[in-house]
Amino acid sequence: MKIRLILPVLAFFMAGTISAAGADGIRKTESSEDREMDRFISALMRKMTLEEKVGQMVQIPANFTTGPAVRTGNYIKAIEEGRVGSMLNVEGVAATRKYQELAMKSRLRIPLIFGKDVIHGYRTGFPIPLAEASSFDMEVIERAARCAAREASAAGIHWTFAPMVDVGWDARWGRVMEGAGEDPFYGAAVARARVKGFQGEDLSDTATVLSCIKHFAGYGAVIAGKEYNSVDMSMGQFANFYMLPYKAGVEAGAATVMTAFNDFNSVPCTVNGDLLRGLLKDSWGFDGFTVSDYASLGEVVNHRCAVDRKDAARQGVMAGLDMEMSTGCYADFLVELVRDGSVPEKFVDDAVRRVLEQNRLGLFEDPFRYCNEERERTVIGSAKSREDALYVAERSIVLLENENNFLPLSPDIRKVALVGPLSKSRYDMCGMWSCADQSRVVTLYDAMMERGVDVLYSDGYDLGTGELKDTSLTMSYARQADAVVVTIGERAENSGEMRCRGDISIAQEQQALVSMLAASGKPVVVLLMCGRPVIFNEAREAAASVLCTWWLGSESGNAICNVLWGDYNPSGKLPMTFPLHNGQIPLYYQQKSTGRPESSGWWHSRYQDIPNGPAYPFGYGLSYTTFEYSAPELLSGDGEDIHAKVKVCVRNTGKYAGEEVVQLYVRDDVASVTRPVKELKGFRKIALGPGEVAEVVFDITDSQLGFYDERLEYIVEPGRFTLMTGGDSVHLRSVDFTL
Ligand code: NOJ
Repeated sequence: MKIRLILPVLAFFMAGTISAAGADGIRKTESSEDREMDRFISALMRKMTLEEKVGQMVQIPANFTTGPAVRTGNYIKAIEEGRVGSMLNVEGVAATRKYQELAMKSRLRIPLIFGKDVIHGYRTGFPIPLAEASSFDMEVIERAARCAAREASAAGIHWTFAPMVDVGWDARWGRVMEGAGEDPFYGAAVARARVKGFQGEDLSDTATVLSCIKHFAGYGAVIAGKEYNSVDMSMGQFANFYMLPYKAGVEAGAATVMTAFNDFNSVPCTVNGDLLRGLLKDSWGFDGFTVSDYASLGEVVNHRCAVDRKDAARQGVMAGLDMEMSTGCYADFLVELVRDGSVPEKFVDDAVRRVLEQNRLGLFEDPFRYCNEERERTVIGSAKSREDALYVAERSIVLLENENNFLPLSPDIRKVALVGPLSKSRYDMCGMWSCADQSRVVTLYDAMMERGVDVLYSDGYDLGTGELKDTSLTMSYARQADAVVVTIGERAENSGEMRCRGDISIAQEQQALVSMLAASGKPVVVLLMCGRPVIFNEAREAAASVLCTWWLGSESGNAICNVLWGDYNPSGKLPMTFPLHNGQIPLYYQQKSTGRPESSGWWHSRYQDIPNGPAYPFGYGLSYTTFEYSAPELLSGDGEDIHAKVKVCVRNTGKYAGEEVVQLYVRDDVASVTRPVKELKGFRKIALGPGEVAEVVFDITDSQLGFYDERLEYIVEPGRFTLMTGGDSVHLRSVDFTL
C-alpha cells in the first residue's frame, strides 16, 4: 500500500503542456499581503503605455564583464523614455545615482533596479560558496550573505544574482564553486539560509538585496560537466535529486528566479512554460519575477527552437519569462507582438506587475534610498565585515589529512618554509565571481609575517607556466625550517563560469614538488586551494597534513594561520565528493542501488582499471580532536507527524575543544522505484569540549522517508528503512526502522 501525501506537483509535465494542465501561471488575484502596494501598482499600470510596460521587462548591461557583448543601442535615451526596468553590473553610489537620475526623467518616474552578481561577499571577499557550504553551519552561511547584502546595498545595488542552488555531481563543471555541492537536502538548507541572509526579514531595510534562485532548472546536470551544454534527465531524477533546493529557495521567499541556459525536457529553460508558469508559478506559487540568464532568450535561436529573436521573445513571454537579461528580444519585438495579437497583453501585465512589486525595496518612495555616500564609505570594508569574513573563512576550511596529529603546529614552530606563489596571490585568494577589493586581501604570507613567524619563502613553481623553479633554494629552506607549508591548487580562474575542465587533477609539477619537499624529511603541510573537488593523489600521499582551503576571500591568510596554529579547530566537511580518478566522474555518494552491487562478487558494477571509491567522501572532514559515536538508537515518535526518532551520542575523545557535523542518512530498503544507497536527511553541528558528550536526536518524518514515484507523486511507502548516523557519508552505524 502506498500513502499518497502530496498532490502531484509535476503533473503538468506528464500532462504534456500547461494548457492541458489548465494553468497559465498568471496570478488570479492581487496579493492580499499588501493591498496598498497592489492599489498603487494597479493605478500605475493603468497609466503605463504598452512601451513602458515592456520597458519594465528589459534589463540592459552597463558593461559586458559577465557575458558576451550585446547590442544595447542608445540606452540613455531608452532609460529616459522609461523603456528599461533594470540594469546589470552598475555599482557604486555615484554610478547608480547617475542612472537613477536618468530614470527619473521618464514620464512615470519608475525607478531602475540595479542587479549584480554578488556571489560571495562584495568588496569584503568571503569564501566561495562551495567553501562556505563546507561549514555545514547555516548561521555561518546566512551571516556571509547578510554581509554581502549590507555592503552591496551600500554601493547602490538592489539585487544579487545569487544564490546558485544547482546540485552538482560533476566536478568538471566549473560552476560547482558557486553552489552548495552535490546533495539536494543539504543544498535546500543552504538555499534557505542564503536567501534569508540576502533578503533579511524585510526588503524595505536598505541593508538587504533581492535574491535570485538560479539556474532554473537542472543546470548542474549539464552533460559531461560542460558549460552551456544540454541537460537530459528523467522527471523522477529531477524531482528526487535536483528540484529541492530551487523549491526551498522559492519557499524561503526569494524575490526572483533566473532561468538556466540549458534545455529541460528538451525545451530551453528560458522559454519552458512547464517550468516557469507550470512548476514555478502555478505549483509553487512563486510570486516574484523570473529573469533570463545573460542573453539566453536570444540563444533560443541557437538551440534551434525559435525561428528568430522575435519568435524567441514570443515564446519567452508566453512561457512566463518576466524580464530579459541583455539580448533585447523583448525591447525589440514585444510591443509589436502584442499589437499584432501574437501575445495576449495579460501576459505582459502579469510580468510587469511582478517586477513593479519589487517596490518592496521602497524605491517608489525614494529612488535614491540606496545612494548614500556616507553609508558607502563606512559600511564597505568595515571592521564588522572583516570580522564576519574571518569567522566564515575559518569555518570553511576542511582538514583532509593529519598524520600523527602534526597539526596544529606547536607554538614553538616559528621558522616555516612557506612554498608556493599562491601564498602571496591576492587575486587568487578571492576566487572566481569576486567583487572583492584585492588590495585589502590578507594573503598567507602577509598573515604569517604579521604573526611574527620566521618565514623562509620561495615560489617553488611558476604561477603562470606551472613549471618548477628555485628548486635548490626551496629545498634548502625546507631543511632549515621547523615545518614546511606548501600551497598548491588551481588558480581562481580555473573554476567558475566557462571554467570547466576535462581533467581536474592538480598539476603534476606541483604534486612532484610536494613529494620532493617530503623527501627532505620534514613533515609537509599541504594547503589545497581550489574551486572544486580536485585530484591530487601523489601530493596527498606525500603530505603529513592537508587542509582544503578552497578560496577564502579577504581574510584568507588570517583564517589559514588561525587553523594552522590551532586558534581555530577546523570543522568543515566536504559538500562534494573528491574523486580518485577523472574516469569516476560524476562521482557522488547517493548512488542508486544497482542490480549488481559490490556484494555480488566479481560481476559487480565497476571499472577494470580504477576503484569505485572516492579519495574523500561527501560529508568528510577531520578535526584536531576526535569524536566517538554511539550506535544509533531508535526512539518512538509522537504518533502523528514524527514516525520515530534516532538518538546518537557523540563524545569528544581528544584533547581539543572542537565542532562536529553529526549526519543522518536514510535508505529505503525496498521501494517501488530504485532508490539511493543512502541519502542525507539530517545534520547538526555541535561544539564539544574535551571529554564532553552530546546527545543528538533526529526526527524521522515523511520528508525523511518519502520520494517522488514514477508518477511524480511524493509518496511514503511503508516498509523497512535503514537509518545511519556518523561523521561522514561512509563511516556510519545503523539501526533499522519499519514504518
Ligand atoms: C551568466 C551566469 O550564468 C549567471 O549566473 C549570471 O548571473 C549572469 N551571467 C549575469 O552575470
